[in-house]
Amino acid sequence: MASRYQQVYQSWKNDPEGFWANAAEAIDWIKPWDKVLDPDAGTYGRWFTGATCNTAANCLDRHVAAGRAEQAALIYDSPVTGTKKSYTYAELTEEVALLAQVIADMGVSKGDRVIIYMPMIPEAAMAMLACARIGAIHSVVFGGFAAHELATRIDDATPKAILSASCGIEGSKVIAYKPLLDAAIDQARHKVGSTLILQRPMAEASMTAGRDTDWTEAVEAGRKAGRKADPAEVAATDPLYVLYTSGTTGQPKGVVRDNGGHMVALKWSMDAIYGIKPGEVFWAASDVGWVVGHSYIVYAPLLHGATTVLFEGKPVGTPDAGTFWRVIADHKVAALFTAPTAFRAIKKEDPDGKLIGKYDLSSLRTLFLAGERADPDTIRWAESMLSVPVIDHWWQTETGWTIAGNPVGLGQLPVKYGSPTVAMPGYDIQVLDDAGHPVERGKLGNIVVKLPLPPSCLPTLWKADERFRNAYLDEFPGYYKTADAGFVDEDGYLFIMARTDDIINVAGHRLSTGAMEEVLSAHKDVAECAVIGAADSMKGQIPCGFVVLKAGVNRPHDDIEKELIQLVRQEIGPVAAFKTAIVVDRLPKTRSGKILRGTMRQIADGEEYKMPATIDDPAILDEIGAALKGRPRA
Ligand code: COA
Ligand code: AMP
Repeated sequence: MASRYQQVYQSWKNDPEGFWANAAEAIDWIKPWDKVLDPDAGTYGRWFTGATCNTAANCLDRHVAAGRAEQAALIYDSPVTGTKKSYTYAELTEEVALLAQVIADMGVSKGDRVIIYMPMIPEAAMAMLACARIGAIHSVVFGGFAAHELATRIDDATPKAILSASCGIEGSKVIAYKPLLDAAIDQARHKVGSTLILQRPMAEASMTAGRDTDWTEAVEAGRKAGRKADPAEVAATDPLYVLYTSGTTGQPKGVVRDNGGHMVALKWSMDAIYGIKPGEVFWAASDVGWVVGHSYIVYAPLLHGATTVLFEGKPVGTPDAGTFWRVIADHKVAALFTAPTAFRAIKKEDPDGKLIGKYDLSSLRTLFLAGERADPDTIRWAESMLSVPVIDHWWQTETGWTIAGNPVGLGQLPVKYGSPTVAMPGYDIQVLDDAGHPVERGKLGNIVVKLPLPPSCLPTLWKADERFRNAYLDEFPGYYKTADAGFVDEDGYLFIMARTDDIINVAGHRLSTGAMEEVLSAHKDVAECAVIGAADSMKGQIPCGFVVLKAGVNRPHDDIEKELIQLVRQEIGPVAAFKTAIVVDRLPKTRSGKILRGTMRQIADGEEYKMPATIDDPAILDEIGAALKGRPRA
């Protein structure tokens, strides 16, 4: 089938507002919009101003009313607990309405924030939808973040309540969440008066009287009393959620997602980009703590009337590298969406794909990859093992959906390894040099998107318009800075090559080396430090820290390195995967004192590097090379 991509992209270019108004017909609005785009509202314009709606009702009640009551909405598959459980649209609607009332009874109302700190269990998705139902703004914090990171988010979001569970399960380990939650609440300046705690049998949490409510007891009491919350009417421009993501400092950025535009773009994407029809099974093997989980475990499949799979497990070790194939076969998954790192992990355990043959994968039509650059080796391996198209696509927490992709629903375009393909409707992607001039095709530059950003993209950062303008809009006036560098080839295919800031991508998880440097600098013996992202054959990148000690410190380096590793784990969390700290005598710098992190990374990766012309003392580069010898490396 010839792709309709060009025609559809052109139709958006010719009439962007008409394009999105048309897509918005697929959503139930309580009140229609006054303007599709109000260019004067917000920091760069707002979508669907004047409209009112409810996201949870569009995800749930609407499908029940339209005849999908008995269709599976959510399938929970948890190899770590040996559980498989399916919720129909009618059941999920009921559970969400009950939970929404419990949250409302905790004093949460429209516009209030609620933090959700939970493992991958159905109640996490219910919690998000329950907030959406009453117009509360959820902020999900990934379970792999430590108490300090959670406390930072509590202080920024100032939630009325926190929803959590007693524990998460990471492979064979049970991770108690409640002590982390208690520590975060203690640390935070903003005092949270009420929490709802789901007790899991693997590690029961001790409850704090007057603050902690037992989740199950509260929901069951509501069920008995028949207390369910109705969907609230919210403005299309009201925030649905705030999702914190790594910025260039230890202070994470609160990405705001609105209700209306988010629904329109996500609903459109399910058919056009993923080629999924309502009623089919879609599986995003991610975590609700990340944007992929928000968009493609919870909201998009449900907005579309599809069935979503919520998987509590890992690609390997739960119990083996065949677990993904087992889930596809058991639930007849039509499309799988995951990060390349998951496939690298599987490939490492089962390079010949012996486990694949054990399962019937005939339901699977497409594998989608995102979250980090999809390396050609991984794509080729997945293609040959699964015999389905493997589609890379590029997006960010900030956008909530694809910036550049290969829209299989519109007809797949030829795949070029290493490229996420082409700009999606809504995105006018350009590549500019540092002075803001367009670069020639094939030349590397800053990838930017012409304003306004399409529906679903962040209108601003939570309570930080100025930071939003500073971080994204000021450097290239009239454009959104993606902070990714890359190029467009002669066929219009985009290639994403590197970040232009200090963000690194570790196992598909977005982390800030700046934030890690802040933690290392706080150690009493450290004078200065640099953290780089070194190449890793499984996780893509892993952080590696170099520290210079204060004069006069003569403790064993080994002890200090261990303390530093522990400190990052304690302050940021295990997700940082910070396992290498190296004490060095000096850091390589330019004559003006700028640390040469790029060159250090090249040395760590064994790449050829050019001696920076401005280097202060070239001998230091050899010292860095020597310090890396014998260290754990990919
Ligand atoms: N709660 C608590 N701890 C968590 C956690 C969570 N939700 N998620 C990860 N961690 C911990 C891990 O247990 C590990 O701890 P350890 O240092 O004690 O071993 C640490 O954080 C690092 O985790 P991770 O980077 O995930 O490494 P891993 O070796 O456990 O697993 C992969 C590696 C590749 C299998 C795994 O990262 C993966 O499946 N990645 C896919 C990424 C993804 O879905 N990204 C979302 C974007 S699409
Ligand atoms: P996150 O906000 O966690 O989704 O991370 C976004 C960043 O991950 C992007 O800015 C890119 O640097 C990187 N990224 C995501 N998807 C891709 C992809 N398909 N190819 C290359 N880089 C990607």
